[in-house]
Amino acid sequence: TIQACLFDLDGVLVDTAKYHYIAWKELADKLGFEFTEKDNERLKGVSRAASLNILLEIGGLTFSEDEKARLAEEKNNRYVEYISKMDSSEILPGALEFLKDCRDNGIKVALGSASKNAMTILNNTGLTPYFDAIIDGTKTSAAKPDPEVFLLGAQELGVPAENSIVFEDAEAGVEAASRAGMASVGIGSPDTLGAANIVVPSLQDMNVVRLREALSAV
Ligand code: G6P
Ligand code: MG
Repeated sequence: TIQACLFDLDGVLVDTAKYHYIAWKELADKLGFEFTEKDNERLKGVSRAASLNILLEIGGLTFSEDEKARLAEEKNNRYVEYISKMDSSEILPGALEFLKDCRDNGIKVALGSASKNAMTILNNTGLTPYFDAIIDGTKTSAAKPDPEVFLLGAQELGVPAENSIVFEDAEAGVEAASRAGMASVGIGSPDTLGAANIVVPSLQDMNVVRLREALSAV
């Protein structure tokens, strides 16, 4: 039985991937190399520090830890500028309806995000009241694919892993769910999310009845 749903934030509930991309691209421009949308796929679900390392590897550049800390801060300042202007219109299709449906069916809801900016995004989009527990990048020490973020979420909800379902758009997130002993729903393409128990293009048309059916069929 499903007792809890744990949601990734970026790319599952809100479309912040485009702001991460613009902010990283601006940094790459400044450092003098090209950073494409395809490159950006590698950054999804990955922590800020790890994302910078991937970006610099793409640019073939090396910096000291101090310089890297400054570059990461610079990217984050740009990103924060973008997300400070977000509102409820940037909630992805079907997400709000599904969060409400979970609540109506007595299923607990948690956030499991790597982002240290999660609270800003949840507050600006009005999503905060829909969560019974919020685990974000300020509460975790190990990044996905480490299962920590989802284990903490289920623990705070008081629900065993086997009764928890994770919703993820990133490969690293699907792996984190599986390492936490949780079933997962991939949001996106089966090409990248084939390891999830089921894959759907978005939360549009998702509801608790369909979720139960789909998971019992696998
Ligand atoms: C999510 C996003 C990543 C981002 C990470 C850290 O996992 O998918 O692209 O790098 O959060 O976000 P932050 O807001 O803390 O830089
Ligand atoms: Mg994501």
